[in-house]
Amino acid sequence: MSNDERTFVMVKPDGVQRGLIGEIISRFEHRGLKLVGAKAIQLDRELAEQHYAEHEDKPFFDDLVEFITSAPVFAMVWEGKDATHQVRRMVGETDPAESPPGTIRGDYGLDLGRNLIHASDHEDPGSNEREIELFFDEDELLDYEQVTAEWQY
Ligand code: TYD
Ligand code: MG
Repeated sequence: MSNDERTFVMVKPDGVQRGLIGEIISRFEHRGLKLVGAKAIQLDRELAEQHYAEHEDKPFFDDLVEFITSAPVFAMVWEGKDATHQVRRMVGETDPAESPPGTIRGDYGLDLGRNLIHASDHEDPGSNEREIELFFDEDELLDYEQVTAEWQY
């Protein structure tokens, strides 16, 4: 478990429209994670289908691609100790209705198709780096010391 693991996070169209970008960023900042990349973009169909390729045979795939391309998203890369797993714990369950209060989906969502945020899956090793590469060029990612880190690790 490295201290500089990177993970991919995306505020989905519902989160952007509802004004939750700042709230979501704050949670990761307060946890002590380091922001190393961020951008607002609108996904085209090709990128959406690549990103969700693992679900291409699922009945919800077309609706998912339609939704994720329907309006802008906010894509980020966060770095820190065990980042992929810890971010997923903060995000909650896939279905907001099953997500405990205190999680992002559990605090702000009610519906499976509108679950606010994507985060790389720690149960799919390598998905974090694969997703980062899909959304960001290397020169869009920062390399810097976080001065608070010595108080955390
Ligand atoms: P999945 O990768 O299983 O969930 P997670 O986002 O927690 O990693 O599914 C991707 C997205 O697909 C999920 O965030 C919401 C949508 N989805 C549905 O619309 N219906 C479903 O039954 C499932 C499992 C997912
Ligand atoms: Mg997933």
